[in-house]
Amino acid sequence: MESIADELFKEFRENSIAEFFRKNRQMLGYAGKVRSLTTIVHEYVTNSLDATEEAQILPEIRVEVKEIGEEKYSVLVRDNGPGIPKNIVGRALASILSGTKFHRYMQQRGQQGIGASGCTLFAQITTGKPIHVRSSTGKESYECDISIDIKSNKPVVSNMRDVSLEFRGLEVYGEFADVKYENSEHGVFEYIKRTALANPHASISLLDPTGKEYTFLRSVNAMPKKPKVVKPHPLGLEPGDLVEFAHRSESRRISSFLIDTFSRVSDAKINELKQLVSFDLSKSPKELTWQEAEELIKAFKSMKWVAPEFDSVSPIGEKYLGLAMKNIINPEYISVVERKPRVFRGGIPFVVEAAIAYGGGAGRKNDEGEEAGGNIIRFANKVPLLFDSSTCAITYAVKSIDWKRYGIKDFEQEPVSVLVNVSSVFVPYSGVGKQAIAQEEAIIDEIKLAVMDAARNIQRYISNVRSRNLAESKYKTIMRYITQLSGDLSELTGNKQEVLEEKLKKLVDTKYKKLFETDEQSNNTQDIEQGKSTQDIEQEEGEDEDKGAS
Ligand SMILES: Nc1ncnc2c1ncn2[C@@H]1O[C@H](COP(=O)(O)OP(=O)(O)OP(=O)(O)O)[C@@H](O)[C@H]1O
Ligand SMILES: [Mg+2]
Repeated sequence: MESIADELFKEFRENSIAEFFRKNRQMLGYAGKVRSLTTIVHEYVTNSLDATEEAQILPEIRVEVKEIGEEKYSVLVRDNGPGIPKNIVGRALASILSGTKFHRYMQQRGQQGIGASGCTLFAQITTGKPIHVRSSTGKESYECDISIDIKSNKPVVSNMRDVSLEFRGLEVYGEFADVKYENSEHGVFEYIKRTALANPHASISLLDPTGKEYTFLRSVNAMPKKPKVVKPHPLGLEPGDLVEFAHRSESRRISSFLIDTFSRVSDAKINELKQLVSFDLSKSPKELTWQEAEELIKAFKSMKWVAPEFDSVSPIGEKYLGLAMKNIINPEYISVVERKPRVFRGGIPFVVEAAIAYGGGAGRKNDEGEEAGGNIIRFANKVPLLFDSSTCAITYAVKSIDWKRYGIKDFEQEPVSVLVNVSSVFVPYSGVGKQAIAQEEAIIDEIKLAVMDAARNIQRYISNVRSRNLAESKYKTIMRYITQLSGDLSELTGNKQEVLEEKLKKLVDTKYKKLFETDEQSNNTQDIEQGKSTQDIEQEEGEDEDKGAS
């Protein structure tokens, strides 16, 4: 006879990860029509940047977005990267949690093996169509259609055929419904513009649904430093990480597993650890329990460690960031600061860069393209973060600064753009959508220090501009009355009016005109500490190409 439990559990099923995300697509960033379209472009473009960076190829990325129906768009992204081998392409683009990145401890934009397959899934559930892929690896060159068997999370590759292609790399084409193209702070254009800002080595072009072409040419002809694969530091671990690493390890003993897997663990450290934990470090790492992992973590925290290796982090770089801001934002003045690497949670290295642009093209613009006030441009590992700003450590840090101290009376009203990039092998995002950085105290403190450092140069610039403007307006006012004044004086003294006028003009010139003319010159050429004026960067980088939207 069947028990009640037997009866109830007839409904018991295992959910495939693809099935799970089909129902919870908002977790992948597919919530809201504008955000969904930006997410698609983001996933493909970050993959192209990662792939070209790994292959050390200067990226040329083409993005085309076309309207093909009501709230229905096609997206094409093509790169000049290494391409994907034929026998892997299905799993790479249509099997969730598959990829070349999630199992390596290395600073890359992608981390989870979800992005591209998430797009395939989204195309499939909104238009019922597979994505179309063309790729050339130099060895093989093919095209095919790819979709996901949602029940099993397995790729379905069809219409595979060899073709000759005019490019080397990967091209992905998909059709998506329930999405919308919008020219807003959250839209595709802004995403591409900001990507170009943080990746000055990339050339990116965009064809928007109105047929308008935008090109962001590279400002730097050199690849950024190739991210180094590093071993995690013991102080950056949580029990879950430790158990996962241990169970995947091929080592015979926990002691050798710790030495091989993590940085700064030596024989001497193992001896120290032996005194601090209750279990035998010579047993197999496969047997490590959660409780023992917790014990190890506690022991790690009580020990003294050499700091982690810092060369795992790859920031944009002060010089290149300034150059890109000049070309893309074209402000009156730029101040850039790159801080030294630091650690959060005791063992995870990260580095913060901040740049402030003032005047000219800086700041938020309204729909008419007029100045509307200050804005914060956020990046993590050179990837723009366009959503969930209110929960992000960057927003929190920038808003907590007392801007009046830096000559900015009201941040919301002035033509100022504050850009912050946080780079780390492990960026602590506050959600799966990877759009906001968690509010870790050490990260917030670093962001504040970087931004305040950059703000000091802005303050100097603003106060110079203000005193220059004051001198200029005084000069103009006095000059307006000088003929009248010299006439009156001539009547009073009996001296010739022309002589008096000439003398008065000279006097005003020496007092005011020289003041604002000299100031203007010194402002444009002075290299104030780390802050650079627009012209400095131009002079330093004379040989580089120009970058800008055309
Ligand atoms: N343009 C590309 N060129 C070469 N390989 C690519 C490209 N796009 C994706 N891949 C391969 O496909 C894999 C899966 O990509 P996917 O975006 O799903 O995951 P990911 O980038 O590893 O992580 P994330 O989910 O964080 O984006 C990548 O790890 C990479 O190996
Ligand atoms: Mg990806």
